Amino acid sequence: MTLTLDAARARDAADPLRHKRADFLLPAGKIYLDGNSLGALPRSTPARIARLVTQEWGEDLIGSWNTAGWIDAPRTLGARIAPLIGAAADEVLVTDSTSVNLFKLLTAACLARPGRTTILSEPGNFPTDLYIADGVARTLPDRRLRTLPADDIVTAIDDDVAVVLLTHVHYKSGRRLDMAAITAAAHAQGALVLWDLSHSVGAVPVALGACDADLAVGCGYKYLNGGPGAPAFLYVARALQDALRSPLTGWMGHDAPFAFTDDYRPAPGIARFLCGTPPIVAMGALEQGLAQFDGVDFDTLVAKSQALCDLFVALVDTRCAGFDLTLLSPRDAAARGSHLSYAHPDAYALCQALIARGVTGDFRAPDAVRFGFTPLYTSYEDVWRAVDILADLLATRAWDDPAFRRRVAVT
Ligand SMILES: Cc1ncc(COP(=O)(O)O)c(C=O)c1O
Repeated sequence: MTLTLDAARARDAADPLRHKRADFLLPAGKIYLDGNSLGALPRSTPARIARLVTQEWGEDLIGSWNTAGWIDAPRTLGARIAPLIGAAADEVLVTDSTSVNLFKLLTAACLARPGRTTILSEPGNFPTDLYIADGVARTLPDRRLRTLPADDIVTAIDDDVAVVLLTHVHYKSGRRLDMAAITAAAHAQGALVLWDLSHSVGAVPVALGACDADLAVGCGYKYLNGGPGAPAFLYVARALQDALRSPLTGWMGHDAPFAFTDDYRPAPGIARFLCGTPPIVAMGALEQGLAQFDGVDFDTLVAKSQALCDLFVALVDTRCAGFDLTLLSPRDAAARGSHLSYAHPDAYALCQALIARGVTGDFRAPDAVRFGFTPLYTSYEDVWRAVDILADLLATRAWDDPAFRRRVAVT
């Protein structure tokens, strides 16, 4: 691999996705490597939100539930996410937050496996996954959360395991788990698997149907570019939908919400996993985030994500050697997602120094700097320039400044 700036520019010139960058409003002079935390703003979003607010809400008022399709938004947006995760249109719903969806599906799955006591997950899974699992185990009788290293999960699944809860691409290491193998091992023991796709969707191949996956959840505000706090999604395999019951039996999941009856009767199919009124303005932003994938060949997107990561690794290997940076992510593209983490003894200060020089990545406690590569808008030149700045900060120790050690609430 040629590692010069000119070579990076030549790769951008040959990139079939290069025109996509102009579809995002990225601030000049900033190298944004945090699209795996908060995706960038699509150029079309502000006008869409303005129209939604002024016309659909302001003029058409309550009629927009029908005329603008508001009431169907959870299903129509779910159907747009489905091809990105290898699911059928009627298996995906946009609703609630990832945390709330975890609670709904984990509880439903536990209740579908009576007599089994264990929820199996991995230590160091994203905190909300572990916290929700802990909450579910405390809420239901005779359940416990057990955590084991990911490599030990397959052999540990036995007939006491109700649900295996794993994140497909680990939020810190970027390691990608083998969905097909883990799902098959769980099914062999009669257990269900719930996948968190927050760091996968929109950046790595996900084949829920082909893997015979049961359940999944994921974020709308990372690679899907739906904006801060965007609604999340959930997936329930068609074969399971009518067998599972959501523990949050809100009226939107009722078979006939506008019949206003006193009894709860779950809707058939995926709609039973709705709870309350959908946040329509936020859904409008997510709709524009999803529109960015229209016409994009997914294999091309994935190949670019892997190539950006490979270039970053190769540049750091050659330009940052000897500066206490240790790659925490897999080198093998097939075994990772679209972000890379590096351990550094002063990762927090290094991260702040990078931000001060225009490179936005993020710090993950206790010692990792994380860089996300969003194939829709990250360029090879971005990667080259980011490592150029990183190498300079390390060589000059410019990060070693009290100003960069001051902690802020969100890192
Ligand atoms: C794996 C994973 N799950 C869930 C979340 C967030 O869940 P929520 O949107 O409910 O805050 C994140 C956020 O970074 C995440 O990385």
